[in-house]
Amino acid sequence: MAPAPQEVDVFSGPHSRMKELVRIYSDKLTATDFSNYAELRGLLWSLRSTFREFKTHECIENECIMLKLRHRLDYLKIENQAVYKIHSDNRLSEMQGLLEEGCNKTEHCHSPSEMVTIGRNISDALEVFTKDFLPHMQEEEECFQPLLMKYFTYEELKRIRYDVLQKHALH
Ligand code: FEO
Repeated sequence: MAPAPQEVDVFSGPHSRMKELVRIYSDKLTATDFSNYAELRGLLWSLRSTFREFKTHECIENECIMLKLRHRLDYLKIENQAVYKIHSDNRLSEMQGLLEEGCNKTEHCHSPSEMVTIGRNISDALEVFTKDFLPHMQEEEECFQPLLMKYFTYEELKRIRYDVLQKHALH
């Protein structure tokens, strides 16, 4: 399917930023010496901030896009399980919990081997997260955007995109 015109494309703009964040943490992960306190601390604090941004992105999508799409499909009596399931897992919250735990442990940790364990645990969890997160964004762009195009008017989508971009800019 041809890409949506930019003025009604509600996902691509914010997703460029999310993909950039993924690229940044992937690079940092490979460059970080987990046994070095300053490097591990720098990585974890930056990841914590990145995941707050991911969470904000998800909340904005829920509020500005998914809720409206669900209401529209309900109104039209159309069933679509994917729409109800989107964001229903706790991947982001779980990752945020792990990062909080990693930050707390690192604050009180003075042993290089413990720091390496913390770093490796976070790195493994991030790898799993990223393997889901990139296809998740692709699904939104390739499956949800066409649904929106089908069930909303062009003007409605322009308004939704405006709200989505405004809210991302405010955070
Ligand atoms: Fe655009 Fe649900 O991440």
